Amino acid sequence: MSRQKNRVVFRKGKKVILRPICENDLGRFLVWENDPEIAKFFSDALPIYREEERDWLRKIHKDKNDHVVFAIDTIKGKNIGSVGLHRINWISRHSSLGIMIGNKKYWSNGYGTDAMMTILEFAFNSLNFHKVNLSVLSSNPRGHRCYVKCGFVDDGCRKQQFFKNGIWVDEITMSCFQADWKQVWEQYQSQ
Ligand SMILES: CC(C)(COP(=O)(O)OP(=O)(O)OC[C@H]1O[C@@H](n2cnc3c(N)ncnc32)[C@H](O)[C@@H]1OP(=O)(O)O)[C@@H](O)C(=O)NCCC(=O)NCCS
Repeated sequence: MSRQKNRVVFRKGKKVILRPICENDLGRFLVWENDPEIAKFFSDALPIYREEERDWLRKIHKDKNDHVVFAIDTIKGKNIGSVGLHRINWISRHSSLGIMIGNKKYWSNGYGTDAMMTILEFAFNSLNFHKVNLSVLSSNPRGHRCYVKCGFVDDGCRKQQFFKNGIWVDEITMSCFQADWKQVWEQYQSQ
């Protein structure tokens, strides 16, 4: 119950709440981002340091026109990850999306899809973006499936772009247009 008190809610989805990230989240993010089972899905290979996390938060606060990043909480108030729009281009109205469900117990249960749909609703209906981009490693079929469900389509592939855990993996680029997403959203709302 205490989690609900004075709760900050920026957007509410079916399974998650998106809220601004705060200093208290950083310890959890540090654990998740250094976890090899999670880090293998990201392009970075080097460890992440606490000070980097602090700098990252400061940057987000300072450059609100470049990034919008949220903590992903369950409806009950448990923080399970983060999702953000990065490299925002206000003239061409696009950005790049990044997501991490860091609490592995919550994988493959629709939380990622709901967080994506909720931030896309904000990106398209509030910020009026024309398009949202992302990239996913070929070694991440769960991520790819999640993005397809949210209306993303493949629009390119950089072959053997990253060397991860002893093998070369491709970087698949994907995009989702505002016009195409509306139908996906209506369908998702009716489920
Ligand atoms: C990628 C991520 C955001 C997806 O969120 P999620 O909550 O796990 O995903 P969802 O449950 O919403 O959707 C996953 C879909 O992939 C499917 N799936 C799971 N494992 C799969 C696999 N090995 N191959 C193909 N599909 C798979 C699920 O069944 C589900 O599809 P369905 O609803 O049609 O059954 C989350 O798993 C995550 O953050 N992982 C670790 C970090 C990461 O990969 N970040 C993204 C980097 S681009």
